[in-house]
Amino acid sequence: MGRPHPGVDRGVVIVGSGMAGAQTAMALRRRKYPGTVTLVGAEAELPYQRPPLSKEYLKGSLEDGGLLLRPAQFWAEHEIELVADVEAVRIDRMAQHITLSDGRKLPYAHLVLALGAENRSLPGVPVPRGVLGLRTIGDARALRARLQHGRELVIVGGGFIGMEVAAAARERGARVTIIEAMDRIMARVLSEEMSQYFSDRHREQGVQILTACEVARFSGDRHVTGVELADGSQLPADTVLIGIGVSPNTELADACGLEVAGGIVVGADLLTADRCISAIGDCALFPDPVSGASHRLESIQNATDQAQQVAKRLTGDGAGYDAVPWFWSNQYDLKLQIAGVAPSGGQSLVRGDPAQGSFSVCRFDGDRLAAIESVNRPADHIAARKLIGTEAARRLSRDQLADPTVPLRSLVLSPVA
Ligand code: NAI
Repeated sequence: MGRPHPGVDRGVVIVGSGMAGAQTAMALRRRKYPGTVTLVGAEAELPYQRPPLSKEYLKGSLEDGGLLLRPAQFWAEHEIELVADVEAVRIDRMAQHITLSDGRKLPYAHLVLALGAENRSLPGVPVPRGVLGLRTIGDARALRARLQHGRELVIVGGGFIGMEVAAAARERGARVTIIEAMDRIMARVLSEEMSQYFSDRHREQGVQILTACEVARFSGDRHVTGVELADGSQLPADTVLIGIGVSPNTELADACGLEVAGGIVVGADLLTADRCISAIGDCALFPDPVSGASHRLESIQNATDQAQQVAKRLTGDGAGYDAVPWFWSNQYDLKLQIAGVAPSGGQSLVRGDPAQGSFSVCRFDGDRLAAIESVNRPADHIAARKLIGTEAARRLSRDQLADPTVPLRSLVLSPVA
């Protein structure tokens, strides 16, 4: 790659070296952005992938090297300056520079906030030092060292982290109890039918799942020895993980006067009200092209697609962001794939037979097909990503959707009125 364009000394500064930030830097170079590209990250590690941290890495089938997004030399070869192990502490919008925690100032022509999210802390309960969380590679190392045969693992939160870790821990022989505050697991994202299916599979694997349940206190300090629940019952534990969701990192934006409303507010172009600042990934609140409502998505696909979108705009291609969201999770031998986002409480129908281990749940927002959750039915998932968000998704025959012998892709091509 040639040197940055002479005279362009204020390039793009990206704050946050998670998936959204790193992908922005990579996409800018792929698209031949001529200026400097600087990627600022609070972690000391080179940019790495988080999805395996709660899956293959915990099971031991992937090591540290396999997590790296790109080999070490890639960043220098592509003239992406990595500023690691340091935080951005202030944005000066007038002067167009950010200040780092070590006092350095970085000027920008465009600033991309890819600040991610941080794990929520358990409200109202003192948390001993030995209790673990899972977000970084360091967290995953600490957890992995404790997942051995005979360990007694209690996981607070039956969301994606909780259930993926439960599956990995069972495979490594630990005993596992889930404490979930809601009346079903993974309720933030999944339909009731799919929650039930995954609960059943986890219970078959020996996971104890306690729903509508809260922690009253922990015992122990560096070594946790037990958990007491709100109803007074006691659970033995030698390892406790908390995974009760995340809060977006918005303080930096808030402090410099950008609009924050449970996420950094951006338009369909992913720009804030300051046209020199974009926000993407977990921290960004953006308009859903289908419903028009603002939402924030916590997913790799969203982080990656929004990174591409910003890189496109910064290299002269200005289309808005309108991707269909999708997610996946692997637990035991189950491959869960989700396309679209459904409101909670909407209608749903099941396609295929859960007892056969291969089925989909179609979820609606009024008449519109809003999401399809599939287990071991990849063709449904691929078709769903094409179908959701189109006009056809408002006019589908529910009988056809429910019939697993009718390929979903045929409905993409010829929706029934
Ligand atoms: P989550 O939002 O998926 O699940 C949190 C769970 O904790 C919810 O079921 C919630 O009801 C429960 N909860 C909340 N407060 C509680 C309390 N006081 N006591 C007991 N339970 C409580 O968040 P999670 O699992 O922490 O994951 C963190 C982030 O990582 C999310 O952004 C998630 O999307 C992402 N992630 C995504 C994966 C995937 O897409 N496959 C895998 C792992 C993580």
